[in-house]
Order: sequence, then structure tokens, then C-alpha cells
Amino acid sequence: MSESVNDLEALHEAASSAIAAAGDLTQLQAIRVQFLGSKGRITGLLKQLGKLPKEDRPAAGQRINGVKQVVEGQLNDRKEVLEMAAAKPKHPADFSLPGRRLSRGRRHPLTQVTEDIVRSFRKIGFAVAAGPEIEDEYHCFDALNTPADHPARDTQDTFYVRTEKRPLLRTHTSSVQIRVMKNQPPPIRIVVPGRVYRRDNADATHNPTFHQIEGLYVDRNVTVGDLKGTVEFVFRELLGKEVKLRFRPHYFSYTEPSLEIDFSSPLTRKMGKEWLEIAGCGMVHPKVFENVGYDPECWSGWAFGFGIERIAMIRYGINDIRLFYENDLRFLNQF
Ligand code: DAH
Repeated sequence: MSESVNDLEALHEAASSAIAAAGDLTQLQAIRVQFLGSKGRITGLLKQLGKLPKEDRPAAGQRINGVKQVVEGQLNDRKEVLEMAAAKPKHPADFSLPGRRLSRGRRHPLTQVTEDIVRSFRKIGFAVAAGPEIEDEYHCFDALNTPADHPARDTQDTFYVRTEKRPLLRTHTSSVQIRVMKNQPPPIRIVVPGRVYRRDNADATHNPTFHQIEGLYVDRNVTVGDLKGTVEFVFRELLGKEVKLRFRPHYFSYTEPSLEIDFSSPLTRKMGKEWLEIAGCGMVHPKVFENVGYDPECWSGWAFGFGIERIAMIRYGINDIRLFYENDLRFLNQF
């Protein structure tokens, strides 16, 4: 006995569960034929419409066509799912397998050195801070007490992005001292690794862009002794127990007193020198505290900055800074 409009609900359910159970495109196509083909079950119902009393035909036709549309939609949705599944490889890629021709990568020596420095500072409670490489004159110079006629601000030394309003590429990470202090009250204990830019021509020891790490410690009663102890701890961790440091008077506009740090170890002797200049540092200048809204009567602090390439060159005995940027695998594979 053929089906009638009264079986429509049951037919719809049968179609839905068959579609959901279809495991591949061939099965799905058979279901399509079974229900919607020219001899299909839903098609059959439509063909019988003529046998119904005239007044019942429009309502019945509407119901059958409604179910037909829904079933068509379900077929198409299932088809998409099965097609996607068919496109997926049976054995998905295992990204942990070694490459066929390339060896596994590793971190750039400068990244390794930066991570080691940061790790040492974290041990003694320093947090990592960051700031923008495109800076303004205020954060890079003015707030650091560097006057407008200071030679460092000359267009010979600094890359200015525009001449009006003068955004620039930061010449040192010291600008981040200002940003951090303006953003939060003391105490502060941060290190700032980052890229800096200067109008140096590339030669064996200079490059127009290089990396620095800045340190800033602000609290009550901070002394030069704290500065020396901290720097010694970090350099011994980084470059060995035999490291000796020497602090020489110097001038920076944002510290008073200012000092330069020289460094000596078997590594410097290997490079043919007893002492190598390695960092600038000092006690934060009261003017700088005033500029960021800290009371210099209550707070004291020290700051330092050193070049990461410099440290990496000493650590690994590299005599040409440009090797770091050439991405020559014969160089990089050694680290
Ligand atoms: N900004 C200096 C430079 O680029 C390094 C430096 C010196 C940073 C003394 C400091 C500091 O924080 O106190 O050469």
C-alpha cells in the first residue's frame, strides 16, 4: 500500500534520521533518491494530490512541499559536513615530527642572552616593562633632563620620523623609565629589554639599531651600594664567577652621581683586553623624579642601561656585531 498525506510526519522523521545516520556521500545520495527522486516517497505523496478532494489539495500540497524543503535543507547540510570530513587527511599532520630537510629551529643568540638577563633579574624581584620604539622628545629627552641643545638630540645622532612635533626612534630604553614612573607610584623594580636606534654607520661594533636593557629601582633609602650589589649579582650569573666590575665617574643628565661600569673576566682577556666598558648607571636625578611627580625628598633610586649585543659579544667571543643580523645559518647554528 502506498503512503498517504497522513504518513507525512512519520515520513519526515524517517528521512531526518536516515540523513543524520548517513556515513558517506554515497549513502546520502541514496537517501536523496529514496525520498526526493522521481520515484521517491515524498515525490509519491505529491503525485497523489490529484486524488484528494479538490478543497483539501492546497493545504495538503503546502504541507508536503514544506516537508520537502526542510528535507532538502537537511540533505544539503549533511552533504557539507560529509564533504569536509572527506577532505580531511586520514592521518592529521604531526607538527612535532622533525622536518625532512631543515633541522629544528632555536632561539637567536640575542634572545637567549636577553632571556638569561631577565631571568636573573626576576630572581631578585624585578618585573619586565616595555614602551614604544617610536617615541617623542619628551619621554626620550626632556623628562630625562636632557636639554634641547644636547648633542644626543642632534639630527646627526637621532632618527627623527618627522620634523614638526618631532616623533623619533628611541635612542635608548631610558624613555621607558619615564613612562613607567608616570603610570604608577613607587616602589618600582623593573627591567626593560628593547630595541633602540641611533644614526651610527654599521661597522664591526656599531649598527643603526641594537638592543638595550634598562633597569630602574625606586624605593626609600636606595643607595649606590644596592646598585653595585645588584649589577654584580647579575653579571656573575651571566658571565661567570670570576667577573670583576669597576665603577668610574661619568655624566648622564638623568642620574647624579653617574657612573660607568667596566667589566673584566677571562672572557675579556680572550678578547685581548683587561677591562671593557659595559654599562652606564647612576642614582636617579631629583629633576627626573620631579618630572614624573615623585617627591625626591621621600624617594631615591638607581638606574642603569647596557647593550645586549655587547654582552652577547663578550659571552660568545664575537668580534663583529653585524653577524647578529645577517641570519647566516652557519653562524646561528653555533648557539
Ligand atoms: N641611556 C644610556 C645610553 O643609552 C644608558 C644609561 C646610563 C641608562 C645611565 C641609565 C642610566 O638608566 O642611569 O647610553
